[in-house]
Amino acid sequence: MPWYHKTTIYQIYPRSFYDSNGDGMGDLNGIIQKLDYIHHLGFETIWTSPFFASPQADLGYDISDYTSIAPEYGTMDDVSYLIEEVHRRGMRIVFDLVMNHTSVEHAWFKESRSSRHNPKADWYIWKDPSPSPFRRRSRGEVPNNWQSMTGGSGWHYAAERGQYFWSTFLPFQPDLNYHNPEVKRAMLDMVRFWLERGVDGFRLDIFNYIYKDQQFRNNPFSFKLLPADESSAAFFQQSKYTTNQPETFKFAREFRSVCDEFGERLSIGEVYGDRKIIREFLGIERNDGLTLVFDFGMLNFQFTSDHFRNLIQRMEQAYPPPFMPVYVFSYHDRRRSIHRLAGDTRKAKLLHMFQLTVRGVPCMYYGEEIGMTNVRLPFANAYDPIPHKFKSLPRLIFDALDITINRDEVRTPMQWDSTKNAGFSSAEKTWLPVHENYHVINVETEARDEFSLLNRVRTLLAVRQSESALQEGSLRVIENLPENILGFARKMDGVKISVLLNFDGRQKNFQSSKGDLIFALTPGSQKIDGMITLDGYGGLILKHAD
Ligand code: GLC
Repeated sequence: MPWYHKTTIYQIYPRSFYDSNGDGMGDLNGIIQKLDYIHHLGFETIWTSPFFASPQADLGYDISDYTSIAPEYGTMDDVSYLIEEVHRRGMRIVFDLVMNHTSVEHAWFKESRSSRHNPKADWYIWKDPSPSPFRRRSRGEVPNNWQSMTGGSGWHYAAERGQYFWSTFLPFQPDLNYHNPEVKRAMLDMVRFWLERGVDGFRLDIFNYIYKDQQFRNNPFSFKLLPADESSAAFFQQSKYTTNQPETFKFAREFRSVCDEFGERLSIGEVYGDRKIIREFLGIERNDGLTLVFDFGMLNFQFTSDHFRNLIQRMEQAYPPPFMPVYVFSYHDRRRSIHRLAGDTRKAKLLHMFQLTVRGVPCMYYGEEIGMTNVRLPFANAYDPIPHKFKSLPRLIFDALDITINRDEVRTPMQWDSTKNAGFSSAEKTWLPVHENYHVINVETEARDEFSLLNRVRTLLAVRQSESALQEGSLRVIENLPENILGFARKMDGVKISVLLNFDGRQKNFQSSKGDLIFALTPGSQKIDGMITLDGYGGLILKHAD
C-alpha cells in the first residue's frame, strides 16, 4: 500500500505554532524547533498552511509569488532545512497549494489587469460587462449571476480594462484561467519546483473550483442560503457552472501524473460533492487522480455510536480499496472539535481514538491533541477578512447558527506550557491572543499525566504504528454490541484488531470473545476472564490471531 494511504497527518498553522524570533508570530524555524515534539507524538506527515510570499490579506491563502517565502516566516534556506529535518526524522511534509487564485498583488495579475492586450491578458478570467438595461452604470452589469463562495457576486470591475474579473473567494483573490494552456503549464512547473526540492506532496486548496464554465452560463437556483460543509450550493444557487467541471477532474489526473514523476507523492484535495464527484477527483477505478480527498461533512458529527457507525458505513461505501478515506474533525477554517463536545475531554479522547483506529488517514489540526478550544474574539480588529465582510450583521445571528465567521478564533497560538504566552513566543504581544485557559491546557502539563488527552493520542499513534492491521487492514463493523457501543474489527495477514468504543457516560459490562487487551483509553476499562468493562466514554483495543 502506498505510504500516503497509511500515514497520519498533523496540520500546522505556521503563524501560530512556534515563534523562534520573538516577533509574536510563528515561523519556519519555530516549526523546525518543534519537530521532535511532533515526531515523539507519533505523527508521520506534516501539512503546513501556506508560508509563501503574500500580502496576507487572507493570511497566506492569497499568494503573490509561489516560489518565494514570506519574510515573516523565513527564507528559502529555512524551507530546505525544514524539509531536510523532517526527512531526517523519517517523517514527511506536504505543502498547501492555492492554485485556484493568486493575490491581486501577484505580478501576473498586475500585468493582466493593466490592459486588454498584454502577454498575461488572458491569464485570469475576464469578461465584458453585460449591458445595463437602463444605462445607469457606465460599467454595465456583472457578466452573469455567479455568486462567490463567501456570498455576493464574485465579479469585480477593473476600470483599466473596462471589464470584470472573477474571484471565487474574496475580491483580492482573482481566479487564474486554466483554460489558457500557459497558465496550466506555469502552475504545473511551480508544482515541479517544490517537488524537486523534496516536498512529499500537497494539500490542494478549493481544488473543485479550478475550472469554470467556458460559456459562462448562469448557475441554477437553489433553496440553500447558507454554505455548509456537505456541498457547495449556497446563497440561493447551485454551483453547477463554477465547481466540479469535467476539466477539473481531468486536471486532477494531470496533477497526479506530475507528482508521479517524482515517485509516491501525496495529494489531498479540498473538494465538495457527492460520491460520484468524489470518485471523479480520485480517478474512477484505479485511484489515478488525487490520492486523497477531505470530506468536511464529518465535521458536523453528533457524539453518538449510531452517528459514527453510519459515518463508517458511508465512508466504506465511498472509499473501498484501493481508495482510502480521510478522517478530519477540525482544521483552520472551522470550530475546534472539542466545541462540539461541550469541552468534555473524555469525549475528545474517544473521538480521537475513533479517528486513529478506523480505516482511513487521520488528519489532526495542531492543538487538537491537547484539547485546545476556540477563543472568542471581536470581529472589528480580526486579521481574517471574512468577519469584515459581514460586520454589518449582528454577531448573535452567527452564534445562533453556530457558524464561525471569524476564523482567527480557531487559529490562536499553540499552548506549549504555562509560562508567558503559553511558551509560544517571548514577544510582549502575540499576533492573536493566547487562550486564557493555557495554564491548564498545555503540552507540558498534559505530558505529566498518563491519561491526558495528549498522552492518549501519543499512545494510540504508537499502537497504530506497531499494528499494520490498524494502518492497512480491512474494516468490518461488529454487530450485536450493547447499546451506545461502537465496535469494529480491522484485519490483515491473519491478525485481527478489535476496537470497542463506549459513547455512553455510564460504565458497560459485557461478555467478549477472545483477544488480548493491547490498549485501554481509561484506567477502569479492562478485560478480565472474558468479561469486558468499559468506563463511561472508555475504549479498548483487543488483538487476536485470526
Ligand atoms: C480554503 C482555505 C481557506 C482560504 C480559502 C481561500 O477554504 O481553507 O483558509 O481562506 O480557501 O483560499
